[in-house]
Amino acid sequence: MYKNIAIIGASGTIGSTFISHLSKNYPEAHIHAISRQIIETKELAITPHKVDYHIEDSIQNTAHEVSRELPMDLVINATGILHDDLVTPEKSLRNLTSQSMQHLYEIDCIIPSMIAKYFVPKLNKDNRSIFAALSARIGSISDNHLGGWYSYRAAKAALNMMIKTISIETKRSNKNAIIVGLHPGTVDSPLSKPFQKNLPKGQLFTPDFSIASMTKVLNRLASKDTGKLFAFDGEEINP
Ligand SMILES: NC(=O)c1ccc[n+]([C@@H]2O[C@H](COP(=O)([O-])OP(=O)(O)OC[C@H]3O[C@@H](n4cnc5c(N)ncnc54)[C@H](OP(=O)(O)O)[C@@H]3O)[C@@H](O)[C@H]2O)c1
Repeated sequence: MYKNIAIIGASGTIGSTFISHLSKNYPEAHIHAISRQIIETKELAITPHKVDYHIEDSIQNTAHEVSRELPMDLVINATGILHDDLVTPEKSLRNLTSQSMQHLYEIDCIIPSMIAKYFVPKLNKDNRSIFAALSARIGSISDNHLGGWYSYRAAKAALNMMIKTISIETKRSNKNAIIVGLHPGTVDSPLSKPFQKNLPKGQLFTPDFSIASMTKVLNRLASKDTGKLFAFDGEEINP
């Protein structure tokens, strides 16, 4: 079903779990593990690639390299941050800085958009093919009941708009391509670690559970789904 797969953000919790899950369940597929660092692997069906997300040529060359022999059947972008040395999610508007907003916009919207710019044209035109970007429910404007986390919310909302807009253009050149956003649920990873304490019981997923669920969602996608955002359980999230 999937012959040529690229996972971008391959060192992260969600990226690396997608690689192990897909290599186990689709042994006939070749998987390109794309990361800021070379991923160590002994699997012959996994090829590591090093990329610099801040250099457009680097993204372009990687997209070209992975699709040289076969078009892409499945591309999953699992890059993104919620916090780092420069940014903590803002509890109040008082905490907002232009630096934190710009930083999260760069990493959570611009980088996935540049990845889409070069990987979407490489999607298979003869069979169903998918570009999925890890987004988040928190980027839904209609679902925002709690407020806070300004920069992350805004960057993911902008990413959701990019997904929709890219899907409209892509329909004209590739009727088999499906472009979607995915919400993985709250997954136990370095990204969610500082915010896990107050989660209601059962709301923190293992990476295995989230990735197995999202793979089922990907497998069910049809052309009518392009441009949408789906949660790990298949629920369509309104923008
Ligand atoms: N975990 C959750 O609960 C949760 C919930 C909702 C949405 N998400 C979304 O899911 C995606 C993956 O999250 P995760 O939990 O797997 O996080 P993670 O384990 O921290 O991995 C994120 C990956 O993003 C890339 N990355 C990190 N910092 C970066 C930077 N400064 N510039 C460019 N790339 C950078 C890295 O990939 P490489 O170094 O391999 O390139 C990193 O491994 C994110 O988009 C996140 O917003 C996660």
